[in-house]
Amino acid sequence: MTKRHILITGGAGYIGSLLTSELLRQNYRVTLVDSLLFGGESILPFLSHPNFHFFKADVTEPRVIRDAAAKKNWQTPHAIVHLAGIVGFPACQAVGKQVAWKYNVEATKTVFDQSADLGVDRFVFASTYSNYGLSEDGKPVTEATPLNPQSLYAETKIAAEEFLLTQKDASCAPLLFRFATLYGISPRTRFDLIVNQFVLEAFTKRHLIIYQRGYSRSFVHIRDVVRGVIMGLEAEQSKVRGEVFNLGTEKGNYSKNDIVNFILKRMPETVVEYKDLTFGGDMRDITVSFEKIKRVLGFETTLDVDNGVREVLFALKSGLIKDPTDDRYRNAQFIVQ
Ligand SMILES: NC(=O)c1ccc[n+]([C@@H]2O[C@H](COP(=O)([O-])OP(=O)(O)OC[C@H]3O[C@@H](n4cnc5c(N)ncnc54)[C@H](O)[C@@H]3O)[C@@H](O)[C@H]2O)c1
Repeated sequence: MTKRHILITGGAGYIGSLLTSELLRQNYRVTLVDSLLFGGESILPFLSHPNFHFFKADVTEPRVIRDAAAKKNWQTPHAIVHLAGIVGFPACQAVGKQVAWKYNVEATKTVFDQSADLGVDRFVFASTYSNYGLSEDGKPVTEATPLNPQSLYAETKIAAEEFLLTQKDASCAPLLFRFATLYGISPRTRFDLIVNQFVLEAFTKRHLIIYQRGYSRSFVHIRDVVRGVIMGLEAEQSKVRGEVFNLGTEKGNYSKNDIVNFILKRMPETVVEYKDLTFGGDMRDITVSFEKIKRVLGFETTLDVDNGVREVLFALKSGLIKDPTDDRYRNAQFIVQ
């Protein structure tokens, strides 16, 4: 039996394309809205699927969600998963404050308002643990920790979160995930994320240059993120309405140096050069608590960084991605072209 109808914005991207394939596999109906900033090859396999509908549009435009939802004779979407945006601090830096704000903050309001008008039950927002910035006392940050953005990207995500949290009691319930840094392969793999990027550089250059080696970050496999988002879509409304969840695992809290060790385990010939230069931008150094998502949604990860390194290396060695150094696999480089 066909399950509920889900509308995904930014569904042709890294997370959205894998989420779409998993929702279709689980018999959901999916409407996907994307302006195809990085092309649309990632969603070609879904085109002939009877439960799939693609609507090319820019979600900064005012009527897009309403128009996309009405195109097919399907029920009103149960939920909107809002992934579209200018993603990552280098990409936001490249487009500048005004554009980043339009895509990440104003668009979130526009998409949310249309969702509420349509009678959608749930609005899932993709935020980031970058919002925490540096954790000054060294303790793991929880959803209640004050935010301390270190980049324009995080500032836009916080502004969008603040808007959504004022809508807690709206008919359309906001649910906010702060994802850890993702890794792993998807139909639109990104190579501008630490684990994937290190594997690519070690594989192609046999050489890694590491800045801020001791800085801690938090990492999660893309397939676990997709599982977590679907758990959020399926959870009882009372558990998720107006809630923020860090999405990841304590086992994914690593320093860059730890990640290098995972790379060396599989590519011991890699020459590693450490540079302790600090430069403006994304100066994160944090450990994250994932106690809440485990307690409330029962979420636990199934894959770890070593699985991710092996998977990315396999994709590269087998030639599954023809030219992984192409700019299309890096958000900032592609956007500034
Ligand atoms: N990948 C991560 O590590 C990570 C971590 C934390 C949060 N997130 C969040 O998850 C979401 C998805 O990230 P991703 O890595 O899949 O990004 P991505 O850049 O691969 O995908 C974004 C997609 O949105 C589309 N898009 C952008 N602006 C649009 C607009 N105005 N209208 C329609 N489509 C538009 C792009 O064409 C692209 O397909 C983002 O909101 C991001 O901030 C990602």
